[in-house]
Amino acid sequence: MGKLDGKVALITGSGRGLGKEIALTMAREGAEIIIDDIIPGDIEKTTKEIEGLGRRAMGIAADVSRKGEVQDMVARGIAKFGKIDILVNNAGIPGRASLLEMSEEIWDRVLDIDLKGAFLCTQAVAPGMIQRRYGKIVNVSSVEGMGGSIKSSANYTAAKAGMIQMTKTHARELGGYGINVNCIAPGGIITPMTYLNRSEAEIQQHIATRPKLNCLERIGKISEVANLVLFLVSDDASYITAQNIACDGGRFDRM
Ligand SMILES: NC(=O)c1ccc[n+]([C@@H]2O[C@H](COP(=O)([O-])OP(=O)(O)OC[C@H]3O[C@@H](n4cnc5c(N)ncnc54)[C@H](O)[C@@H]3O)[C@@H](O)[C@H]2O)c1
Repeated sequence: MGKLDGKVALITGSGRGLGKEIALTMAREGAEIIIDDIIPGDIEKTTKEIEGLGRRAMGIAADVSRKGEVQDMVARGIAKFGKIDILVNNAGIPGRASLLEMSEEIWDRVLDIDLKGAFLCTQAVAPGMIQRRYGKIVNVSSVEGMGGSIKSSANYTAAKAGMIQMTKTHARELGGYGINVNCIAPGGIITPMTYLNRSEAEIQQHIATRPKLNCLERIGKISEVANLVLFLVSDDASYITAQNIACDGGRFDRM
């Protein structure tokens, strides 16, 4: 018996990286999965892998920053599976610009995907969860929304910090309907995003220095983050809500 037998999960940004690992982890525990991303090839690959585990899966290309696409995605998911029990707001893009270099467009794009996207998806799934008085929502923030070490990308840190507070407000609004809303703050995990737009020298420096930033003195694995999400959406965590849990090996700059 799996921990998520009979459950339906929507995971945004699950074509690759952390979102894909979360989708596979939940599928192994019995959940049926709605895979959302904006890269069609990745959606197709993840969908096939989940079906290979013997679970039903549905891949949808929807940009989480667009309300119409989000509403359509949720409607299609419910039409196929009858309900959505679990939402993981994982889709995100990095900021990577200093104050003086940051254009209005990149500020808006990061806030639109990393923060507004989570709001739009939560708003779209909440009515069904309220009606059934059951739901688990996990927002994927970042240690960069908690600490002060990062010296650029205020669009990203602001979005991720906003997500932590939004979690608490949504938990308060939805808790009376039996819906748990939590947040996780990963840090130092190797995924395609970690190395996006980075030179080979920057990648090597990152690998060499990153472990020194935390207590465990090593980089984290995506499975270590996915297991935390699995715990939070399972009934093992039924009395946990409104929390933000860091999964970062104990980063020094936020201790
Ligand atoms: N990798 C880390 O160390 C780390 C640390 C802290 C937080 N995070 C967060 O974890 C989440 C996953 O990141 P990752 O490292 O797996 O990165 P990733 O780039 O590998 O995955 C992000 C996924 O989101 C998708 N996506 C981007 N914009 C989208 C949109 N508008 N609509 C739908 N999907 C979209 C991408 O196509 C991609 O598949 C992000 O929210 C990120 O901020 C990652």
